[in-house]
Amino acid sequence: MEAKRAAAERAVEWIRDGMTVGLGTGSTVQPFIQAVGRKVAEGLAIKAVATSVRSEELARELGIPIIPFSDVEEIDFTVDGADEVDPAWHLIKGGGGALLREKIVADASKRLIVIVDESKLVRHLGKFPLPVEVVPFGFELTRRKLTRLGCEPKLRMADSRPYLTDNGNYIMDCAFGDILQPGRLAEELHRIPGVVEHGLFVGMTAEVVVGRADGTAYLLER
Ligand code: 5RP
Repeated sequence: MEAKRAAAERAVEWIRDGMTVGLGTGSTVQPFIQAVGRKVAEGLAIKAVATSVRSEELARELGIPIIPFSDVEEIDFTVDGADEVDPAWHLIKGGGGALLREKIVADASKRLIVIVDESKLVRHLGKFPLPVEVVPFGFELTRRKLTRLGCEPKLRMADSRPYLTDNGNYIMDCAFGDILQPGRLAEELHRIPGVVEHGLFVGMTAEVVVGRADGTAYLLER
């Protein structure tokens, strides 16, 4: 937890008055949102957009002004976590199930700042099963098509029912093993009609902040 907090506190240093900031989702982003809340209580004037109902609720509790995504013209930067980061800063995201909104918000941001602990740095993406958001209609067929791409898709469950995303969709966690060409896989996934979005974030990352267990953090060099 100390490593996550260290990365989160380092990212807060980028925030300035008047900015619009995207709030990611997950246990690393939680201390970031808490740190933003403290700054807002001290007088920092910002607007924020959340990538999940969970992050929005936490932000509101802390008094962070949340604006609807439809009102956003441009997001100065978004701070989000990741499940894996490779040496080219491509990511696997979606362990927390918020990948679709996270990708929409990251895409609308001038910069995506990723905060992680060292356990998330990998040589190749794919040890963490890739989350793929699919529409419930025809998900069995979508699962078969995913299998043909070379993975073992598992329908994510919660309380003995399919896990539902904030958008009312299912998640397939797809164990691919080493993903050597993330850009190519991203294109192949998008060609499957039942796939809404996937957790590969290719070429979207502007900075990676890595927290250490001793409470320090550093900017990753490419
Ligand atoms: C949620 C995400 C998270 O950023 C990712 O799962 C990392 O989470 P954590 O910081 O809890 O390890 O993509 O959809």
